[in-house]
Amino acid sequence: MNYIASSKRYSDMAYRKCGGSGLFLPAISLGLWHNFGFIDSLENARQILKQAFDCGITHFDLANNYGPPPGSAEENFGKILKGEFGSYRDQMVISTKAGYGMWEGPYGNGGSKKYLSASLDQSLKRMGLNYVDIFYHHRPDPDTPIEETMTALDLFVRQGKALYVGISNYKPREAAQAIRILRELGTPCIIHQPRYSMFDRWVEGGLLDVLEENHVGCIPFSPLAQGLLSNKYLAGIPSESRAASHRGNGAIEEDQITQDRINKIRKLNVLAEARGQNLAQMALAWILKDKRITSVLIGVSKPEQVVDSIACLKNIIFTEDEIDEINVILE
Ligand SMILES: NC(=O)c1ccc[n+]([C@@H]2O[C@H](COP(=O)([O-])OP(=O)(O)OC[C@H]3O[C@@H](n4cnc5c(N)ncnc54)[C@H](OP(=O)(O)O)[C@@H]3O)[C@@H](O)[C@H]2O)c1
Repeated sequence: MNYIASSKRYSDMAYRKCGGSGLFLPAISLGLWHNFGFIDSLENARQILKQAFDCGITHFDLANNYGPPPGSAEENFGKILKGEFGSYRDQMVISTKAGYGMWEGPYGNGGSKKYLSASLDQSLKRMGLNYVDIFYHHRPDPDTPIEETMTALDLFVRQGKALYVGISNYKPREAAQAIRILRELGTPCIIHQPRYSMFDRWVEGGLLDVLEENHVGCIPFSPLAQGLLSNKYLAGIPSESRAASHRGNGAIEEDQITQDRINKIRKLNVLAEARGQNLAQMALAWILKDKRITSVLIGVSKPEQVVDSIACLKNIIFTEDEIDEINVILE
């Protein structure tokens, strides 16, 4: 039987304008980097997507290499879209990316027009889509002129294969250059996707200023530092956690859960409880307190985590004392 989405799905979610564009994104978006590949349960993936959509999450973030194996998250997403979400396509914002190694030989990696064009065609086929809403260059490529990469993004919009374009993992100077070239081409860069969490604050060193000055949205990834910023690892490493699953493709490993991190998490957890939130909710709220953030990109391994994380929206305001206390803990 076809899935019927909750009629209340738009009532509790906040939607923020993405930079200077006309596109609204939900304050919380869902990423499919992990837990949606062929090594994972398709039924669990389906339940997560339904739960997310029922909660007002309209934006789903993919990339050519998500899985494992690479490509399988897009393929599974395509299956679920076709089976359950067909009638909701116009209520969904679907993004994908290319930039990291995807296939062998000189045309399966980087930022050339040759690679990006072939990759986007493959992504559309895997997902069964005519177009994606946002296509990103996944990371800067020093071996390709930035003009070529940006011209490729502009081309995809003109071809109707992408409605909007964005960049990911670009440093402030590279981002400013990409944004300027895209503006001159007539296809504005509407969004930047950087890593940002309490444990990784590099975007505060100039990137957020560049984005604000240029009216470009910002959608941070790994806001929980892959689950570290939750109460999950307070008493050891659970067997069902990402760290214990050795998934590869950049997933957190046990040796990254250091004693220093655990000490900080314990202190942050006490502060979160005093705010009436759990640590995951406080970590998401801490990012969303900044008006320059359009949306925060979460990953989940089960549907209940969607509901738990979205509850952060009940309190995204921090007192100055709380901000100071967090800064001291993170020093
Ligand atoms: N552009 C890029 O280069 C890039 C790179 C990485 C990610 N991304 C995007 O960002 C998305 C999110 O990244 P991420 O998965 O690293 O995000 P994350 O939110 O930092 O980590 C997700 C993990 O945190 C745990 N978790 C989630 N909600 C929780 C909750 N309420 N309570 C306790 N634990 C919770 C789960 O771990 P368990 O699995 O252990 O349950 C989950 O798998 C990706 O899917 C992808 O779309 C982009």
